[in-house]
Amino acid sequence: GSPERVTPTGATTDVPATSMAQQGDYLTTAHGTRLTTSDLTLKAGARGPVLLQDHHFREKISHFDHERIPERVVHARGAGAHGTFRGYGSATKLSRAGLFAKDKETSVFVRFSTVLGSRGSGDLARDTRGFATKFYTDEGTWDLVGNNMPVFFIQDAIKFPDVIHAGKPHPDREIPQAQSAHDTFWDFVSLHTEAQHHAIWNMSDRGIPRSFRTMEGFGVHTFRLVAADGSTVLVKFHWKPHLGVHSVAWEEAQLINGADPDFHRRDLADAIEAGAFPQWELGVQVFEDNEEQSFQGIDLLDPTKLVPEELVPVQPVGLMTLDRNPSNYFAETEQVAFNPNNLVPGIDVTNDPLLQGRLFSYLDTQITRLGGPNWNQLPINRPHAPVNDMLRDGYHQSAVHSGVAPYRPNSLDGGNPFETPEGEHAFIDYPAPVAESVKERARPQSFDDHFSQARMFWLSLSEVEREHTAQAYAFELGKCWDETIRVRQLRHLFAIDPALGHAVAQALGLPDQEPTVAPAQDVDPSPALSQVGGTWP
Ligand code: HEM
Repeated sequence: GSPERVTPTGATTDVPATSMAQQGDYLTTAHGTRLTTSDLTLKAGARGPVLLQDHHFREKISHFDHERIPERVVHARGAGAHGTFRGYGSATKLSRAGLFAKDKETSVFVRFSTVLGSRGSGDLARDTRGFATKFYTDEGTWDLVGNNMPVFFIQDAIKFPDVIHAGKPHPDREIPQAQSAHDTFWDFVSLHTEAQHHAIWNMSDRGIPRSFRTMEGFGVHTFRLVAADGSTVLVKFHWKPHLGVHSVAWEEAQLINGADPDFHRRDLADAIEAGAFPQWELGVQVFEDNEEQSFQGIDLLDPTKLVPEELVPVQPVGLMTLDRNPSNYFAETEQVAFNPNNLVPGIDVTNDPLLQGRLFSYLDTQITRLGGPNWNQLPINRPHAPVNDMLRDGYHQSAVHSGVAPYRPNSLDGGNPFETPEGEHAFIDYPAPVAESVKERARPQSFDDHFSQARMFWLSLSEVEREHTAQAYAFELGKCWDETIRVRQLRHLFAIDPALGHAVAQALGLPDQEPTVAPAQDVDPSPALSQVGGTWP
């Protein structure tokens, strides 16, 4: 919908030139008054002092003083690109969402990110990568906010601040920037056996991708698709890169991060500029929407579990092509706000307790990060479907709403806006049954197995991939000063596979350990560990 604009560098952009920014050929103040110069302050004589009366100086400096906004609390380091999603038509029987229709084209914006580093951190850190896609569909915006790994560290969103506090740089020295090379990370992971599966993905070559273009993406959680006839299936979303999945070796990652910390963002932008447009196929693993919400004993609501593709193949439903670089990093990549709440008719959530918490967190954090509740009006976040909500006013309101009755029903604005009858493009929350009527802080027993899928992953690796993974554990645990933590984590590695445990123990110069007895999600810290978090030795 918005007019195409040519920027000074010749790039075209969807971002509309508003009446406030960059019109006309002459330098002006923010109020449109032309200026003779913006290079010299107004002084009492050539040698000063500077006069308070210099309104242009004060405006220029004051605006500059407020240029920065807070970086994301996680996923601060990112790179984005525009593109298109084209449906294959294969998912129309599963979901009524219009974007899946055959040859239907929908604009997208994707932001790739690391999780733990700050905005200026290096691209090649060993870390999970974010893979967030905004689909600007005719029926509203759908955000598929995924990662490049199919599982997550924790099973309940209430643990998210804990895992992030453990993974972010140490509170005392703010080092390191990279994931995992520190005590708090390994303290957390070794005390939460549910984190072992995600951790082994991180220690594998998947933790250091060659390029954003060679990463898979995963929705992680199980979602529910609703078809036109009301039937439902459960699905897991997958992005498959046309270029295949590639990583770098650890030594390469360290060299690249030193020589070019922007390696991944440069690679993405250069490829698109050169016309080598990266592509991913979107696919779904489809499961019956049964009462157990499980597949062959794998609880589909447990975000620390995947369903092997050998058992349930990924069915392709569409193709995404990224073909346009942002022309303004701040306006697009920094101000974009993804939210797993942004759903369209035909795509719904499940009761995965991690997903349920995410439904609160994104909107909440964006009110701080983007300065109030009106960031949906920012060009990059504006839906491509007509918006007629009854949200009004607030910080950074830039719309001028019409009408006098922002409530419903009303008899003053002709009843407008109208409600959509059920079945006609409206979003209807799927009336999923609620299993139990008691309130509890509990997790289902089916969430208890924390080792078998980590073992499955280990066994799926080739010989050289196993070597890299064992070396990664040895390197990262070698940076952990507390031997109690190292030994506790080693016991988990022996529980995953004795060969893995032995390789890492040897590299660390530690004896072989007794494997952890599963299930062991609530590992008791030993008394020695009460000192962790105290003073640095
Ligand atoms: C940001 C993925 C779990 C809170 C992000 C981003 C991605 C992502 C890709 C970056 C979005 C962007 O590029 O702007 C995931 C995945 C998760 C997960 C795949 C689990 C499967 C959680 C949980 C919470 C959470 C459990 C909190 C309860 C946040 C917050 C941001 C964020 C606060 C920053 C958003 C912003 O400032 O725009 N997440 N996340 N995430 N995530 Fe998650």
